[in-house]
Amino acid sequence: MSSSSFDLLDHSHPILVFGRDGQVGKALQVCLSDLKVPVVYLGRADCDLTDQVALNEILSRHQPQLIINAAAYTAVDKAEAEREQAFAINTQAPALMARYISQVPHGVLIHYSTDYVFADTKKTPYFETDITGPIDQLSIYGQTKLAGEEAIKEAFNLADDSGRRRGQEAFSRYFILRTSWVYGDGNNFIRTILRLAAERDQLKVVADQVGAPTSAQWLAEVSLEVAQSRVESGIYHVVPDGETSWHGLAVFAIETAASYGEGVEVKSENILPITTQEYPVAAKRPLNSYLSNQKLKKVLTEMAYTTPYPRWQDQVEQYVKDYVATALKS
Ligand SMILES: NC(=O)c1ccc[n+]([C@@H]2O[C@H](COP(=O)([O-])OP(=O)(O)OC[C@H]3O[C@@H](n4cnc5c(N)ncnc54)[C@H](OP(=O)(O)O)[C@@H]3O)[C@@H](O)[C@H]2O)c1
Repeated sequence: MSSSSFDLLDHSHPILVFGRDGQVGKALQVCLSDLKVPVVYLGRADCDLTDQVALNEILSRHQPQLIINAAAYTAVDKAEAEREQAFAINTQAPALMARYISQVPHGVLIHYSTDYVFADTKKTPYFETDITGPIDQLSIYGQTKLAGEEAIKEAFNLADDSGRRRGQEAFSRYFILRTSWVYGDGNNFIRTILRLAAERDQLKVVADQVGAPTSAQWLAEVSLEVAQSRVESGIYHVVPDGETSWHGLAVFAIETAASYGEGVEVKSENILPITTQEYPVAAKRPLNSYLSNQKLKKVLTEMAYTTPYPRWQDQVEQYVKDYVATALKS
């Protein structure tokens, strides 16, 4: 445990949230609106993260003590052809945020990363301590996200060293929250599959990639719990319990939608499993995206977080009921 603590209800500095219009950014807005704290939400038009001068100016102007970086270059296949842009947004921008907040007493950076930093070196769940890469086996997206993690760790290590030399105690902290298969208010696999299920009577879905679908809303809630805790800096895997394949998720989401009376054309037996090789895309995807959540569970218990730990099925069922049913009706 760290001696440092951030008070979310301290109104002297605003919270800065990057990625306002993304799935996690929108979920954060829902959680933070309940808390009535000053928050500045930034979309691409307010601060383009490829522009380091603009980012520096935003940080100096708002002087945040907590930064939540939910912005990212997430177009995984497009990134293969746009390496520079992906690197600027996923590596250089978080590096700058880390350099800034690491100098702020009790400062906290929450940053999101991904299962794409692993390249099938294991068949079992990855722990935070597992070696990432190998780099040449990762997609460009995975490489830029991994470099973002490294840059954040480096900035905080440098700040901790110089802080210790000055006898400083109010250390700043970072949390790199690695997650997978996120769905919320935005474009995602579940929405796509339900749209297709309403239009077609047969679907083919990849069945040899496994991972844990993760609710953006729950990820946002956990992010705020961690930000206010006294937990140590580091990488945390934030995924619910259980695992499935894209095919398993498609069947579950479609059957759930059907049970709520949604217009679903396709029958479960006509959702056909296919292999990754049968669905060629530009970027390499890990076959094993399964992240162990043991470390997160341990710290949530230490934080006396009483909400029961979710299973992916419960979250997807709720999502299909809440968001998608509304979207399909409109
Ligand atoms: N989605 C997943 O399955 C998944 C899985 C693992 C990890 N993650 C990580 O989780 C985090 C949040 O993901 P998400 O699903 O919420 O992503 P998202 O819905 O794609 O949102 C990303 C946001 O970043 C913004 N952005 C992109 N380029 C920008 C730029 N140059 N300047 C400023 N803003 C920019 C986008 O702005 P516009 O709205 O203007 O495009 C968008 O609102 C990311 O770090 C991602 O890597 C996601």
